[in-house]
Amino acid sequence: MNNYSLTSDFAMPTRPKPIVVIGAGGIVEEAHLPAYRKAGWPVLGIYDIQVEKAARLAAAFELKEVYDSMQELIDRVPSYAVFDIAVPASKLADILDQLPHGAHVMMQKPMGETLSDAKKIIEICERKQFTASVNFQMKLIPSIIAAKHLIGQGAIGQLHDMEIRMNIHHPWELWDFLFGLPRMEMLYHSIHYMDMIKYFLGMPKRLYAKTFQHPKQMQLASTRSIIVFDYEEPVRAFVNTNHGHDFGLQHQDSFVKWEGTKGAVKATLGKNINFPKGEADRFEYFLSDNAHDGWVEGPISGAWYPDAFIATMADLQCAIENPASPHATSVKHAYDTMRLVEAAYISNDSGGTTIPD
Ligand SMILES: NC(=O)c1ccc[n+]([C@@H]2O[C@H](COP(=O)([O-])OP(=O)(O)OC[C@H]3O[C@@H](n4cnc5c(N)ncnc54)[C@H](O)[C@@H]3O)[C@@H](O)[C@H]2O)c1
Repeated sequence: MNNYSLTSDFAMPTRPKPIVVIGAGGIVEEAHLPAYRKAGWPVLGIYDIQVEKAARLAAAFELKEVYDSMQELIDRVPSYAVFDIAVPASKLADILDQLPHGAHVMMQKPMGETLSDAKKIIEICERKQFTASVNFQMKLIPSIIAAKHLIGQGAIGQLHDMEIRMNIHHPWELWDFLFGLPRMEMLYHSIHYMDMIKYFLGMPKRLYAKTFQHPKQMQLASTRSIIVFDYEEPVRAFVNTNHGHDFGLQHQDSFVKWEGTKGAVKATLGKNINFPKGEADRFEYFLSDNAHDGWVEGPISGAWYPDAFIATMADLQCAIENPASPHATSVKHAYDTMRLVEAAYISNDSGGTTIPD
């Protein structure tokens, strides 16, 4: 492939700090703890308001400590540890308020449920001088890292088109806390895709969005969305999600596609297909200079779960070691993602253009 290198490497910390986990739910079991085990990073202990859930994960992952309360956790954990929080967004600010000054913090997305929650969270992080990240790890999936490197080298020329398409059947019943929330699909799911488009193309000038309920998922505020980024340039970038495709696997889709003036890249994110079991990821690219090769499949090892969770924690740990590091997962970047989400809901609520007579 000419002189372009294909890699999903990322910077790792030289002296990783130990981690303590707050929240013992599905994502911690499926991704956080497997990631830290794979990376060989020490996890000191775990706390959940449902102590039996914390105890179960401590046994499964051989963690030494289960804390009975936040106070006990704070008393026992050294202040240089990383506090890894994975609880519903509405609980974040209260937990952050309890952490020591200067703490190292990883918090699960979203960064609160509204932009005003996000403001409050960033204000706490700044006032308490945290080094803090939000776990927007989708942009750090191995195949997405590879795409970023490839596009960054100019392999597909000027990037002008980015499409994120999810046509899947998502088992929302796994997340009790989502039922009854006024904001759902764009806040809890498409937020990853908005974060990813921003990672590649920057902040748009404007955003158009519409989020829809599904007749079979009426207990949820919405489960399907169309979100269009407007850069006021010849750039098209959009998210198209349907989580209600309950018609087998054959036509399920889960991909990100980038088109440039000299080529294209497509990353299939297998985890979303047949979730939570998932299918394999795929990475393909087409370089116009080598058009005779057609679409080439790249050998990218690793997958979203758990590898992207290693990359996210590595990004935070590198920022702790060196404040000048890129820190792509920082609360500052996450706050901009929350601005996009807020814009998406404002656009949705303000309605489309009335059809003229
Ligand atoms: N790929 C991803 O980035 C991804 C995937 C799934 C979930 N998430 C996010 O992770 C968070 C948790 O999701 P989940 O799937 O683990 O949910 P879950 O419902 O399985 O678990 C949440 C856990 O948090 C605990 N909890 C609630 N309040 C707490 C508090 N104040 N202190 C300690 N523990 C508390 C609950 O008891 C529960 O065990 C959500 O914000 C969700 O958006 C992210």
